[in-house]
Amino acid sequence: MFVVAGVTGNTGSVVAETLLAAGKKVRVLVRDSAKGAPWQAKGAEVRVLASLDDEAALASALEGAEGAYLLSPPDVGAADFLAQRRATVDAIAAAIDRSNVAHVVFLSSIGGQHEGGTGPIRTVHYGEQRLAKTKAKLTFVRAAYFLENWAAVAPATKGGKLPSFIRADQAIPMVGTRDIGAVAARALLEGPPASRIDIIELAGSRDLSPRDVAAIFGSLVGTQVEVQEAPTSAVVPTFTGFGISSSVAGLFEEMYEGIANGKVAWEGTNVRAVRGTVDPASVLRAFV
Ligand SMILES: NC(=O)c1ccc[n+]([C@@H]2O[C@H](COP(=O)([O-])OP(=O)(O)OC[C@H]3O[C@@H](n4cnc5c(N)ncnc54)[C@H](OP(=O)(O)O)[C@@H]3O)[C@@H](O)[C@H]2O)c1
Repeated sequence: MFVVAGVTGNTGSVVAETLLAAGKKVRVLVRDSAKGAPWQAKGAEVRVLASLDDEAALASALEGAEGAYLLSPPDVGAADFLAQRRATVDAIAAAIDRSNVAHVVFLSSIGGQHEGGTGPIRTVHYGEQRLAKTKAKLTFVRAAYFLENWAAVAPATKGGKLPSFIRADQAIPMVGTRDIGAVAARALLEGPPASRIDIIELAGSRDLSPRDVAAIFGSLVGTQVEVQEAPTSAVVPTFTGFGISSSVAGLFEEMYEGIANGKVAWEGTNVRAVRGTVDPASVLRAFV
């Protein structure tokens, strides 16, 4: 039996679907029983817990599992974003050891090898470090910049613009969350790695610059789309304009600076570099 967190979200839903399609028993974790109903209909066991921060409830949910897919979902409204993410990871780590689950696949990020200079990615660095102290065998899936991040600015492409904090011509790894879910599910199906920790650095089928992304949107909306580059100094005013606290906005500024200066990049050594297969246009199409 496998346990899957974040099943109402992008990656967890694909992990659970893939495991169910492989004929495996799956226990999905939800915070709201109504959101569990569709999964029950698909044959999953549903476990309702208030939060992944609830160590005792999570340990009980992990009981008897041969593997689990876990993540540390960000709450950009948190009073202290970094402290809250550390608390979630601490609870996850304690629950892993209480439950004796043998294998955990944890969603991390490109740049997850660095302690700082990466903004919100610092939280999954802490996650990797903290989970490494547990008894479980671990697979860290360091995912590239999500293609789904473009959803927020996709409406502007109909007016011929793609706003971007990434330089128009800077090609970076980007991945669709369907690829992440598929790779995470495969890791669970393969079972615990031979080494104690296996790190998968997961890119999409090809690296893309914002100009490439604009060209894909252009073909989808049937008009020329130009990248509207904004400097990283515009991140904080833009994010706070959407009601996000200045401390969280500052973390995103740090992340975009990290992308610009090459810090948010693959580690490359002692890792497995994997590419997904999803066509970027098939992801971006949903946003226009
Ligand atoms: N965006 C990027 O470029 C990028 C790159 C690399 C890694 N990441 C990582 O990707 C992760 C997000 O993954 P995703 O896109 O699959 O998730 P998502 O679609 O944002 O959904 C988050 C999921 O987590 C659940 N959740 C949220 N807070 C929870 C809590 N306190 N306790 C239990 N469940 C909770 C949500 O359930 P509800 O339905 O109850 O809300 C939902 O199922 C983040 O951890 C981030 O670090 C992002």
